[in-house]
Amino acid sequence: MNTKLGLLLRAGLLCAGTLSAEEVAIDDGNGRTALALTPPEKAYVLLQMRQFVESIQIIVAGLADGDKAPAIEAAAARGLKRNQNDPAFPSTLGAKLPQEWKQFGGSTRKGFDALADAISKSEDAKQPLKQLSEVMKNCVGCHASYRVADAKP
Ligand code: HEC
Repeated sequence: MNTKLGLLLRAGLLCAGTLSAEEVAIDDGNGRTALALTPPEKAYVLLQMRQFVESIQIIVAGLADGDKAPAIEAAAARGLKRNQNDPAFPSTLGAKLPQEWKQFGGSTRKGFDALADAISKSEDAKQPLKQLSEVMKNCVGCHASYRVADAKP
C-alpha cells in the first residue's frame, strides 16, 4: 500500500474509532512515558490532578474578584508544606516515580506555596497570575512527558 493511501486510511480509522487496542497504544503513545500504576496508586495520582484544577479555578476566580482569602487558601492547599507528608500517599508509589516526575511535581508544589505568598503580598492580580502561569508550565511539561497505564495484576 502506498504511504499516502495508508495515512488516509489510518486517519479514517482513527476518526471512526475502529483501531485495534495495539494500534491505539501506538497512536496514543505521543512519545510519553507510561507509568504503570495499580488502581489505588492511579486513583491517588488522578485525585491530586483534579484537586489541582479545582484549586486553580478558585485561585483565578479570587484574583479576578480581588477576593484574596479563598485564592490564598486554594494555593496553599496544593503546596508542598501541606502535602509533603500526606498520609494518603500510597507507600508503593514513591519508588515508581522517575526523577524527572519528582522534579515536575516538586516545582509544582513549591510553586503553589510561593503563589499563596505572592497573592497575600501583591496589590493586584498581575504578578500572581504570572506566577500561576509559571507553575502551570510544570503541568504542561509533565503531561507532555508521562501518561498513566494500568500495572499488570
Ligand atoms: C509530575 C507530573 C504531573 C504534574 C506536575 C501534573 N500532572 Fe496532571 N497528570 C499527569 C499524568 C501522568 C496524568 C495522566 C495522563 C494520562 O494518562 O493520559 C495526569 C492527569 C491529569 C488530569 C486528568 C485527571 C483524571 O481524573 O483523569 C488533570 C485534570 C490534570 N492532570 C491536571 C493537572 C494540573 C492542572 C496540573 C498542574 C497544576 C498537573 N496536572 C500537574 C501528570 C502530572
